[in-house]
Formats: sequence, C-alpha cells, structure tokens
Amino acid sequence: MWHIALVLVALTARPAQAVVGGEPASPPEPDAAVIFTQLHGFSARIEGIKDDRLGYYSFFGIRYAEPPVGPRRFQRPVRQYLAGEMMAVNQCLPCPQRDPYYPQRVIGHEDCLCLNIYAPKMPAEEQGSPVVFFIHGGNYMTGSTAAYGGQHLSQKDTILVTAQYRLGSLGYLSTNQKDASGNVGLFDLHTAMLWIQDYIQFFGGDPKRVIVMGQGSGASAASLLAMSPEGRSATGVAALSGTPLSPGAIRPDPAKHADTIAERTGCPKTPAESLLICLRQLPHEKIVLADNDMNMDMVDTQKFLDEVSGRSGAGARVEGEDDLRGLPPLVADAPAESLKKKQKRVPMLTGVTSAETSRAVFGKFNKFLTNQIQNVKDFLKKDLVGGLQNVVKDVGGLIPFASQVQTLLPIADYYTNNLLEKSFTIADGLAKVAEATGDALFNLPAYQSVQQWSSGGKAFLYSFEHVGNLSKGWHFLPGVPLAEKSENSSMQVPQNVQGPSHGDELAYIFEPLDSDGKPVGGEVSSTDARVRDNFVGLIANFAHGVEDEAGKKKNGAANKNLFDSLLSSPDGKNNQFLKIGNEMTISKDFRFCQLGLWGNMADRLTGDVCKNLLGNLLGITGSLAKPDKVAQGLTNQLTQAGNVGQLLPVQSSQSQNQLPGLGGLGGAGGFLSNNRQSSIRPQKQKPIFPGSDGLFDF
Ligand SMILES: *[C@@H]1O[C@H](CO)[C@@H](O)[C@H](O)[C@H]1NC(C)=O
Ligand SMILES: *[C@@H]1O[C@H](CO)[C@@H](O)[C@H](O)[C@H]1NC(C)=O
Repeated sequence: MWHIALVLVALTARPAQAVVGGEPASPPEPDAAVIFTQLHGFSARIEGIKDDRLGYYSFFGIRYAEPPVGPRRFQRPVRQYLAGEMMAVNQCLPCPQRDPYYPQRVIGHEDCLCLNIYAPKMPAEEQGSPVVFFIHGGNYMTGSTAAYGGQHLSQKDTILVTAQYRLGSLGYLSTNQKDASGNVGLFDLHTAMLWIQDYIQFFGGDPKRVIVMGQGSGASAASLLAMSPEGRSATGVAALSGTPLSPGAIRPDPAKHADTIAERTGCPKTPAESLLICLRQLPHEKIVLADNDMNMDMVDTQKFLDEVSGRSGAGARVEGEDDLRGLPPLVADAPAESLKKKQKRVPMLTGVTSAETSRAVFGKFNKFLTNQIQNVKDFLKKDLVGGLQNVVKDVGGLIPFASQVQTLLPIADYYTNNLLEKSFTIADGLAKVAEATGDALFNLPAYQSVQQWSSGGKAFLYSFEHVGNLSKGWHFLPGVPLAEKSENSSMQVPQNVQGPSHGDELAYIFEPLDSDGKPVGGEVSSTDARVRDNFVGLIANFAHGVEDEAGKKKNGAANKNLFDSLLSSPDGKNNQFLKIGNEMTISKDFRFCQLGLWGNMADRLTGDVCKNLLGNLLGITGSLAKPDKVAQGLTNQLTQAGNVGQLLPVQSSQSQNQLPGLGGLGGAGGFLSNNRQSSIRPQKQKPIFPGSDGLFDF
C-alpha cells in the first residue's frame, strides 16, 4: 500500500510546487531531470542532469546538513531540508584532508556535507527503485564521493546515493567526554540516511528498500550503522573489504589521539572544553595536518601494521549507552558485543579482494619490508606474524579464546615453512607478508563477521578474484596506502598474490569519474564488461531484496537461486562463498586451514582437510610424535580452551631450529605456494552462471 501513498504524494505535490519562492517556475520538459519536493514546510525545485544515451539522471552536490563550521565543528550535524531552487550539477568539494599528491597540503572545505544521486527514472506510478547508499573508504581520513559514478547500478533499476562525511579529527575527535563524544562523521552519514527516508521518493526511489554499502572503513561504518537501532531504516548492508570486526573499524583509545592533536596544535589537553574552544579557533588545515604523521622514512613494523590495518589516526569509537546529555548513541556497544546479542539483523553481504595488501607490500612498503626480511632475524615469524597476532587479538570477538591458545598454534610456521630453503627470494618473502596480512586483517574479519552476523540474519561472503584492466583502487582511494599505485613494477609478483588489491573491485561496480564528474571512459574488454555486469547485478539484486517475497517474485529466479544456494550447503556447515572471477561461482572452504589457524578452530585444524598441513607443522619438533597423536592433543587443548589454557605440547618457536630440512615437509610447501584457495583437496566449483549475461536482467 505504501507505494500507492507515495505516488499520490508525488502526484498531488506537483501542481502546488509550480510556484517556488513566489516566482513562477517554468514547467519542466516531461522527461527533464527536474525534481519538485514539498516537505517539512518547504518546497524546492532541483535541477540535475539527464544522460540521454543511457537514460539516467544525476544530481550533484545536494547539501543534507548545515555546514559544520564555527561552533558546529565537532558537533553532531544539523539537518538541512530542501528549499528553494537549486542547480544540482556540480559536486561539492571534498571534506578537509591531506592532498594525496602533496601531503603537506590540505584540500577540501568544511562545508562538505553533500550527497550525489544517480537515479534510473523519475517518479511515476510504478514502484520506486531500491536504493544503494554508499559510504566511501579512506580509513576515516581521506576520500570523497567524486569518483563513484552510478550509471551501471542505474541500468539495473537501482538508485545510488553517495554522501560525504567529516573525516579525521574533524569527524571523530573524542575526549571520551560529553564535550566531544566523537563519531560526528558517522552521525553525518546517519543524517544522510534520514534525508533518504524523506526525499528519495521524489527521485523515484523506494525508501522501504535502502541498503547501506561501504568499502574499507566505509564498510565498517556501514555495518556499524546497520547494527545500530538508529540505523534501522537500512534493509541490508553490503560491506566491501571492511567489516564490524576489522581492526580499523573502531579506535580503542580516542582520548589518546586527542592528546596527540593537542600536543601537535599547541592546544591545552585538559579540560576538554578548553581543548575544543582552542581547536575551534584554528583553521581546519592545522587540525588536518596534526592528524597523522606522514613521515614514511620513519616507518617501522608497528607503523606498517597500523597502515595496512587502517587503524591509525582518528576513527569511530564505542560511545556507550549514554553520552551524558541523553542523546542516543550510534555505537552503543563494541561490535563484538552487539554481534553476541540475540537480535534480528538485516541481511549482510561482505567480502574481500583476493590480494588486499599485495599492492602495498610490493609497492609502498617494498623497500622497508625487503630491508627487514634481509636484515632482521626471524622478521616474518616474530615481528610480522607476532605483530599481526597482537593486532587481531586486540579486536574483540575476532579470535575466540585468544589469550589461551592462539600464540601456541603454528601460525608463524605456516607462513614461513617453505622459506627455509636457502634459495628463497625476496619476492617469496614479500608474498608471505601479503598472504599473512591478507588473512589476518581481511579474510579472518570477513569470515568471522559472516559467522557471527548469521546468528541474527542472513549473511553472505564473497571473494573478488578477477584481475582486469578497469581502473584500480588508487583512482577511488587516493592517499590510502593499500591502494597506492606502485612505482616499483620491476619486481615479479609471485602468482599466488597477484590478485586484485584493496579497492580494485570498485571499478566493477561504479563508473570511475574524473574530478569534473565525467566518466573516465576507455576501452572495456568483453571479459571486464561481463565481470562488471555480474558484480553490479549482485549488488542490485541484493538491494532489490533477498528476503522480500515480492522482490523475489519480481526479480524472478536470479535472487532466489543465488542467495539461497549460497546459504544452503550440502554438508550443512555453511562454508560457502561466492567467488567473483571471470565468472561467478559458488565455492566452499574459504581459506579453510589458514582461518582455522588464526581463529583457533579446533574442528578444522584436526579434521581431514588440514591434517596434512598441520600434522607436518606440529610433527616437526617431536620427530617421533605421530601427527594423529598431536592432533588429538590439540583437539583436547582447544576444546578446553574456553575454560582453561593448557599448553600445547609443541612450542612453535622451537620448531625452526629442529627442522629436518625441507624434505620433511612433504607436500606442504607446494601446497602453500600453489593453492591460493587453501584447502588441501582441490576446490569443487560449480559454475552457476554460465554465460550469465541475461541472468541479472530485470
Ligand atoms: C623496488 O624494488 C627493488 C628490488 O627489490 C628495490 O631494490 C627498490 O628499493 C624498490 N624501490 C622502492 C621505491 O621501493
Ligand atoms: C587487459 O588488457 C590486455 C592487453 O590489452 C589483454 O590482453 C587482456 O586480455 C585484458 N584483460 C581483460 C580481463 O580484459
């Protein structure tokens, strides 16, 4: 019934709006990109751009909140309603951030709380289109809506709304006190969602079907919003390469960062009120420059791990139930705590690219890592894997039983055991860094988020594995270390880590736009076009509704087949995931043994699939110990780990010394280098979309 009501609103509203601000407005062409709204006591006329070739409509630079300047800096946003006449043809400036190309400079403007809309059709009597509300990535510190074009989604009857939000300390400064309770950047996004609820009907949208989607830190933000009672208008969440359990999702100690800002700007640390008064008087550039230390000459292992985890600088925090002013929080609980609660959740689609960190490892951090591998004894084993273990251990809910067992599992051995050959190259070593960081910082959080989310709602996992020629991550994520274009192309990247890196999937969903909002263009191969069609179709289908019976009927079998078959696994274990390569296929056992190691999954580690691998690693020290026996011991340890922490019979740190040489490792070495998809037995894949071009047509 609701859509009929909306149509009535839209139809009856029109004649009344022919007069705006007292001046007669010229009647629009029947098909022009002109919108009339009437709401909250204001009427407005908004003119955008129609793309005649593809038949979609874009509206740029619509302000959804008052400029957060002056006394409003660090405060929650104030809604702005549509009023008067407006040309929505130019994007807003980005929110203040470092210039990615000249890091000592600051770009952007504080008056940046704008959104862009790409709509397939103007309001009519038919049902409105579902909406994808997209939150760009950039570690809560960089990025804008500029590059993300919505023409492909619009071809699948789906609206794209992209919104800017405050970044860095301007968006997240928090002293843990009511003066600066933090998360105002998230509240910006929340306000944009309220705007969508109000206004998207006038743009031909359906406010009852709005998924919130993000990438990187934007994906973490999207999941925080979808988990919050305040974000309940979302009907689904699509989290690309970021999750509620990602190490970069939540800053554990925002007050410490506020202290750093105080030191770097010369403002008083306490009381919080004085800090804020002082910071409000500074030009925003000073605050942006104080936000992070860009000195890459000083990179050490900690800084490397912080950068690839996206956890440096200011970011979202857990507010607690009460901010002492009685205002509702957005993030009341730590994500791990929320996920434990028995509550209904909207469907979640999350996933990774298959080589998230490869570009950073072989590019920006190549020199540093090469140096470490060559000069620091046991760098991979101790500094890298040890450091990663600390990172993931700090994320609540990521590793069950973390303190008891985790350090005793042979994780480090797994990533180093075929490097003991004298002949291993630097590229091999870097490949291990890429593999270990990808597993710990991206694959594990994605997997665990799906597992925990599914206690209250449907959750789907994908892995994007297509290496193509469309724009790369740096186009969308300038300034993000993981996406930075590599200047060092001389090194041959080993095959198993050649997959797409962080952000490389974005051009397979969005049309990359240049800084003027024009498509970058260029040749698109038929393979790339097909992959893009599949991925856009996946997102559009998800937005159209995986649960809504009407949606299923409307979209035919495609939705039902895809999402249902992802959930129903023959063995009932729900280990399936969607592999997005040249074709889309359903695959199973995503990084099975590696995630078993990182996540302390006893059943995996001692089961048949991982037996060979683990038996070898555990059998190394006690040369007489039978793998079976060790496995039995391990099962006992792990099954007790919830209550007690007993030591495993094997200390991984000893194992390297006593290695009987590579021969003793049997097949494990070959497995490591050849089999990106991780299970010992070959993956069984059934192509589900042979020539899937027609499948996503609505
Ligand atoms: C590029 O790779 C080569 C070979 O490993 C290395 O010597 C050089 O320092 C690297 N350059 C940068 C900028 O990382
Ligand atoms: C990318 O471009 C190269 C060179 O034109 C071509 O050989 C290759 O097939 C393209 N890859 C895809 C996935 O289209």
